[in-house]
Amino acid sequence: MSTRWVPTLHRHARLHHDTVRDRWAVLDPERVLFLSPSAHAVITLCDGSRSDDDIVGVLTQRFAQPSVETDVRATLSLLHARGALGYDPLAIRMDPARMPSETATVRALAPPLALTAELTHRCPLQCGYCSNPVDLAKHQDSLSAANWLTIIDECADAGVLQCSLSGGEPLLFEGLDSLIAHARKRGMYCNLITSAWRLTDDRIRRLRDHGLEHVQISLQHTDARRADAIAHAHGAHAQKLAAAERVVAHGMALSINTVLHRETVAHVRSLCDLAANLGAVRIELASVQSHGWALINREGLLPDAAACAQATVDAREAQRRHHPHMRVIAVINDYYADRPKPCMDGWGQKFITVSPDGMLLPCPGAHELGLTFDSVLQGKTVSELWQSSESLARFRGDAWMDEPCRSCDERHRDHGGCRCQAYALTRSLTATDPTCSKSPMHGLIVDARARAEAPRDPVITPRSLVRRPPDTHNE
Ligand code: SF4
Ligand code: FES
Repeated sequence: MSTRWVPTLHRHARLHHDTVRDRWAVLDPERVLFLSPSAHAVITLCDGSRSDDDIVGVLTQRFAQPSVETDVRATLSLLHARGALGYDPLAIRMDPARMPSETATVRALAPPLALTAELTHRCPLQCGYCSNPVDLAKHQDSLSAANWLTIIDECADAGVLQCSLSGGEPLLFEGLDSLIAHARKRGMYCNLITSAWRLTDDRIRRLRDHGLEHVQISLQHTDARRADAIAHAHGAHAQKLAAAERVVAHGMALSINTVLHRETVAHVRSLCDLAANLGAVRIELASVQSHGWALINREGLLPDAAACAQATVDAREAQRRHHPHMRVIAVINDYYADRPKPCMDGWGQKFITVSPDGMLLPCPGAHELGLTFDSVLQGKTVSELWQSSESLARFRGDAWMDEPCRSCDERHRDHGGCRCQAYALTRSLTATDPTCSKSPMHGLIVDARARAEAPRDPVITPRSLVRRPPDTHNE
């Protein structure tokens, strides 16, 4: 007896016509799936009233071609596997759908896909792996709510489909509600990346009523005492748990984000179980990436090899166990991989970060590279800056690469690794990311791994107590 499948669009996903690319897309938390015309024809019939057989029947009549049934079933399976019709347990990293025309070269620069709007660097927490600049005093909050409304407009005009409101703590920014309403009005999927500090029931309801669709809450640990110690904020963990439950109760998508480091890496199973119990639709287990604040604290943060390997096993097991209700996105620590990650899916290829001081960046860490970035306040639109900014163009394609990347077959897959990490470790802008085993500087990683094997209590300096990074990274 066959099972009747009645596919519907996932409750936290929506269909969106992207007027910049003239394509249909499914938008869901922090992700974009572009649809071919045939996939669009299929998904518009996934309304909860038709079975897969019914959909095949409708489209066979409409197109009268022998391959329709095979094509429709393949499309339904693909959409299901990508999570548009239910989440795929085997997805292992954040993966906005690729457009077929995108490559690592600058032949045709695609429009930007996602904005991270860092509304403020102010934060009630002081995590020692914060992605905000190390020298916070040099980076003032200088954008008003009116500036941000313009930026959101310009991003929408440029083709941005995902808007993530972040910080610091975005809840501290006055005018947040109007930004959410505006991003929704412009069709973007609206995400709040928050510590959930003082996120009351009323506030959550108001955010939802203004159009917020997804809330990503950071959890520092499963144990309240340890979590508060890592965040340097007494009572923060209890507030996060309460806020997470309210987000779900108010019908928004919930994600949990936990940074995996020496203290948390052994708790992957319990973190996933906690997130699932809270009703999260996804959990991001982000291995600490060693640049900025996290490099200052690397000795206390970098887990050992066995712990990282076990975390990978545990994450895969959790993916299976929590399917289809929750997606587990585990970003493996590249200190224990042979190759670096394709950071940001390529520098200046898809993602835009606008920092509180108005800089248009390819990623939140790029402040530390010593490059001059353009300000969104200087009169050019986001689209013009995307096309013309020299710093955004600096690491597009492969012409900038040194050996061994320049002649490496894998350069279009990983783009030579993370520029922020490569620079932090080598002080060269064009060096191969040392996490790659082909890098002449790979010894830096081998040494750090060896030190991580030594037993020690994690000693983490909170972000606000350090003003400058020590110049002794690559000892
Ligand atoms: Fe990637 Fe460069 Fe390593 Fe090749 S040498 S795998 S391009 S980082
Ligand atoms: Fe900036 Fe990787 S974090 S390029």
